[in-house]
Amino acid sequence: MTRYMVTAALPYANGPIHIGHLAGCYLPADIFVRYMKLKGEEVLFICGSDEHGVPITIKAEEMKKSPQEVVDYYHDIMEKSFKGFGIEFDNFSKTSIPLHHENAQKFFKTLNEKGYISKKTEKQYYCEKCRRFLPDRYVEGTCPHCKAEGARGDQCDACGKVIDNVSLIEPKCKLCDSTPVIRDTEHFYLDLDKFQNKLKTYLDSRTWWKENVREFSLGWLKDGLKPRAITRDIDWGVKVPVEGYDGKVLYVWFDAPIGYISSTMEFFNRSGKPDEWKKWWQEEDSKVIHFLGKDNIVFHAVIWPSMLMGVGGYNLPYDIPANEYLNLEGKKLSTSRNWAVWLDDYLTRHKPDILRYALASTLPESKDTDFSWTELQQKNNGELADIYGNFINRTVQFITKYNDGRVGENPELRNEDNEFLDTISRKVQSIGKLIEEYSIRKATYEFMDMAREANKYFTVQEPWVLGKKDKSRLDTVLYVCMKAVVALACAGEPFIPFASKKLQAFLGIKNFRWDSISSVAVPSSLEGRELEILFTKIEDKTIEDEKARLGRKAEEKSAGKNENTLSLSEISIEDFKKVELVVARVLKAERVQGADKLLKLSLDLGTEKREIVAGVALHYKPEDLENRKIVIVKNLKPAKLRGIMSQGMLLAASSSDKSRVKVLFPDESCEPGDTIG
Ligand code: 2FM
Ligand code: ZN
Repeated sequence: MTRYMVTAALPYANGPIHIGHLAGCYLPADIFVRYMKLKGEEVLFICGSDEHGVPITIKAEEMKKSPQEVVDYYHDIMEKSFKGFGIEFDNFSKTSIPLHHENAQKFFKTLNEKGYISKKTEKQYYCEKCRRFLPDRYVEGTCPHCKAEGARGDQCDACGKVIDNVSLIEPKCKLCDSTPVIRDTEHFYLDLDKFQNKLKTYLDSRTWWKENVREFSLGWLKDGLKPRAITRDIDWGVKVPVEGYDGKVLYVWFDAPIGYISSTMEFFNRSGKPDEWKKWWQEEDSKVIHFLGKDNIVFHAVIWPSMLMGVGGYNLPYDIPANEYLNLEGKKLSTSRNWAVWLDDYLTRHKPDILRYALASTLPESKDTDFSWTELQQKNNGELADIYGNFINRTVQFITKYNDGRVGENPELRNEDNEFLDTISRKVQSIGKLIEEYSIRKATYEFMDMAREANKYFTVQEPWVLGKKDKSRLDTVLYVCMKAVVALACAGEPFIPFASKKLQAFLGIKNFRWDSISSVAVPSSLEGRELEILFTKIEDKTIEDEKARLGRKAEEKSAGKNENTLSLSEISIEDFKKVELVVARVLKAERVQGADKLLKLSLDLGTEKREIVAGVALHYKPEDLENRKIVIVKNLKPAKLRGIMSQGMLLAASSSDKSRVKVLFPDESCEPGDTIG
């Protein structure tokens, strides 16, 4: 049986993850893996943070932290975001661990012993004041081609041209602004030219690759491959394992893909099967599939296979389903201009499934695509709520309200019922086939089409009329509708896993296989079961707020306020002390009319009384809070909510999808007015 070794590009641990990353590879990879696992295939899904390289050291200097502190900080943020979005890696490792350093050094040594690595002396900028060599991103100057200022050592963003080694006009050290000198430095090179022919044969044989990926990779071979430097003069990274080369590390792109293997090893070490990784990377019946964005193609399709061929004994990538770029509101996503939707930030306000679904419908599979908040609203309101949610809701409501919760066990199916059920089964199959072809967008349409068909069936059958004249036919129709609800609960799992799991729990579905979704049992009764509304409409105001927020964040960034999401790590103790946290006793709690999420709380703060409005009504009844002591932020600017002035904010803990919210109750011996900090 084929084994599928699936990887998603290791993200640099120098910032949080944004929607571009999600659409580029993590979401399609997760949808693919979820589906393959449901199909019963043997699949391993591996990732980890890419923790070396100049982007990390630059970030560390900006943040005045050590590189290790930076990567640990972002590793955790990224891991949380992935979890929050249901991106379920089997292992999310990191390349700064000793196991990975050993592996990368072994790769280097083997390639060196086998004669695939050479040495060359080259010229490089050296800052005498900082006493260090300056990698490309550490030098800025005037572009020798277009004369624009602010060009980097290796590239000019203004004209897009590559800048040859040490050819900047008026170069400056980015760290101290002094003028660097040029010094000789010796570096190791991977002799890609030695793999030219083998690579050509390999790429020619990969006829099933996406055309753009294969063409692009073959394009690299056209002019003949040249040796490529694989070491750098910095002190953060995997040390070059050759004596006399202290102060040099392996180039991040050399060690990063080895990280996939290290992460797999770490996974199996943890489960006490230290040799098992070999099966996945070295045995013939394993297929290695690398999901990534287009900027990573050459590394995975040309350089990485060369390294694997050179070392020997490894499977070469079987497929590289690379995506193009995602734009945001018609503009290129940009971390430096803070034009992005950051996943950790998104999760503080919205459900993960909505973004998963909106992005899955617009993945840049064959060309760049655009994400807009308005489209997310349309996808949510017009499809998730109005089509998918509506069908499930009307079926469940009808059964519980008008049929005593009975689903009807011995249906007498007519042609029209069988035809409808066949359509649903065909769509389930077609979704699977499309996912296997990495046509995730089409698969997503097909999934929503199932719900569309189901709504049509419901409307044509008119159960509300049958209820009055033909009870037995009503039973059949409701049974058939429930078959469709079950199919939607199962087939939705790759796309909207959170809602699907809730629906599956409601239906009592524990395990199922993709190929037998049509035979998953329908519960005979829904009595005593409760299903929460899976998707509610997003108001226009929310979307306007999100768009305004995007613009505001970008402006703040350009005005020099370091307002990207790393600011939290950087608030000073003085900043924190500005927040006044106090204990309060809840004198009275009542529901707010017309707002099912809000409770109005009248509080005793020891020296004064106040009212606040708290969004906890879905999780607490008024009587659960009355007479309890809570903690509030006292000096928050008052805000009007549903016409009530809220003079503070209650502290509560919540799960990332907001399905679990727990008010923080201080120790009973605390008194109203006690301060916290
Ligand atoms: O482009 C990036 O974000 C790289 N960190 C991807 C590395 S993928 C792999 F080789 F590890
Ligand atoms: Zn300097």
